[in-house]
Amino acid sequence: MYHASTVDQLRRALERFRIAGDRIALVPTMGNLHAGHMALVERAREVADRVVVSLFVNPVQFGPGEDYAEYPRTFEDDRGRLLGAGVDLLFAPDVAGMYPDGEGAVRIRVDRVTEGLCSETRPHFFEGVATVVAKLFCAACPDVAVFGKKDYQQWVMVRRLARNLLLDINIEAVPVVREADGLALSSRNEYLSPADRRTAAGLFRGLRDAAADAGVGEDPRQLEADAWERIAAAGLDPEYIEVRGQGDLEPVVDLAGPRILLAAAHVGGARLIDNLELDFREGPPGHAV
Ligand code: PAJ
Repeated sequence: MYHASTVDQLRRALERFRIAGDRIALVPTMGNLHAGHMALVERAREVADRVVVSLFVNPVQFGPGEDYAEYPRTFEDDRGRLLGAGVDLLFAPDVAGMYPDGEGAVRIRVDRVTEGLCSETRPHFFEGVATVVAKLFCAACPDVAVFGKKDYQQWVMVRRLARNLLLDINIEAVPVVREADGLALSSRNEYLSPADRRTAAGLFRGLRDAAADAGVGEDPRQLEADAWERIAAAGLDPEYIEVRGQGDLEPVVDLAGPRILLAAAHVGGARLIDNLELDFREGPPGHAV
């Protein structure tokens, strides 16, 4: 596995792959890798000849008072996992390498799909992600980039970003990887005490059970209220719970079509997000975990 810590080193390594005619996949991460990230790496291996993983805790997507300083940095463990998974190239730049003229020099903003949901409480977040992802795309020029549906709004935004920057990059999505009790894997789960960790499972359970009790004729606002009640009763503090259109996140007034139930909730000082794809045309959603 090559290790590039500058964009120059990255480009030189990629050049060798391209000369060999290899198709290149990029998996952007902030490190502290877990099985969710590794599912992205596996997908990347399936769809490309060479896999590049970036590890970069992007300061621009963290707001004031958020966990940029505390975000878990576990470089040696991450390197070992990537080596074991047969990754070809690890790109771990520093902040000056990604932002040569400072963090405000260039910003990328994607409209519509970044309205509401996570941006209500994290207004800086999607601009920070769009900016760093656009930079990674410019630096690596991959054929494919792989993202997780765990961060559903982020994935939808990245697709819109690639399409509207006219980039010839195929954006692949991987389903949410969960713990046995349904909790979506996340680096931020480490912030939870054992008791809060048990409570946290109530987020997905609430989404799943509310969806299992709904039908195609139900008002999406009723489904949202039902999920809210269940998640609050489990001991979490919901931030938003919304049904939107799958893939485009457009607001919806019925459940007659592919929908997505998205939620954010707080427990013990940690902010968790999750979602559940709904398709009532194919029978009840909310598979058992
Ligand atoms: P990070 O939180 O490290 O996540 C990197 C990728 O792993 C994202 O595409 C995310 O959706 C995916 N992922 C995380 N947990 C997952 C799970 N349980 N199941 C499936 N996929 C999962 O997301 C970011 O970093 C950053 O915003 C980034 C895109 C790297 C830009 O800085």
